[in-house]
Amino acid sequence: MLKVDSVSKTFFPHTVNERRALVDVDLQLQEGDFVTVIGSNGAGKSTLLNTVAGRIHQDEGVVSLDGVDVSRLKEHQRAAKVGRVFQDPMAGTAPNLSIEENLSLADRRGRPRGLSRGVTRAKRERFAEALKQLELGLEDRLKTKVGLLSGGQRQALSLLMATYSDPRVLLLDEHTAALDPQRAELVTRLTRSVVQDKGLTTLMVTHNMVQALEVGNRLIMMHEGRIILDVGAAKKAQMTSQDLLAEFGKLKGAVVDDKTLLQ
Ligand SMILES: Nc1ncnc2c1ncn2[C@@H]1O[C@H](COP(=O)(O)OP(=O)(O)OP(=O)(O)O)[C@@H](O)[C@H]1O
Ligand SMILES: [Mg+2]
Repeated sequence: MLKVDSVSKTFFPHTVNERRALVDVDLQLQEGDFVTVIGSNGAGKSTLLNTVAGRIHQDEGVVSLDGVDVSRLKEHQRAAKVGRVFQDPMAGTAPNLSIEENLSLADRRGRPRGLSRGVTRAKRERFAEALKQLELGLEDRLKTKVGLLSGGQRQALSLLMATYSDPRVLLLDEHTAALDPQRAELVTRLTRSVVQDKGLTTLMVTHNMVQALEVGNRLIMMHEGRIILDVGAAKKAQMTSQDLLAEFGKLKGAVVDDKTLLQ
């Protein structure tokens, strides 16, 4: 359903600042796969998500969604199919708009402009219903400006917005990293339930190894622009974060030309 085929991306090529962010990356996700992505700083995790979203265009290779090559489509042309939540709670919502106006934007995503701009009563009820599931009481604050919400509340709302129009792929880039442990826990719980309820195909970047092992049905590890480890559900269920660190130590030392599969 999502296919990343021999994708490479080099920033500032042929200069002293050259950065090979992705090197011949192959990744295939089945419908409903929930894949956690780990790797050190600069490993290429965000670049991988950015090439799927169309924010960055790869130099080589193909990205396809539902069997359609979307490599040439710009980010806004993929927006109906791709939902995203970023690390920064400020990034996913519009602070000067109210909760219901933000949800209205999410509701209209990927649809023609001009249709049903206002927030009707029926819509308001649907928004309230969806907000209830967050268990933050936001359903009673539909007219509140989003800028007044806490980071955790905004991130929960960002998640709801990113998934509201049933994207084909959900991309989460360290979306719990800026939150305190309790809020991070809440957003992780919400993530699991929305992904499960909607059966969303998901890529989730995290630096939290425990979270990477607990969440999802598959784990990949990146290093220097390559996927160096790809672990399926059965193996993942048995691994500890110590095992992951040990694997990382083993793998990153070697020159890894091929994906190492441990499924
Ligand atoms: N827009 C950009 N312009 C130039 N270089 C970039 C850009 N985005 C990423 N890079 C470089 O590409 C490499 C991979 O970066 P990327 O952001 O994908 O890493 P990451 O795995 O997400 O790291 P982190 O864990 O720190 O978020 C790094 O060397 C980075 O400096
Ligand atoms: Mg990153």
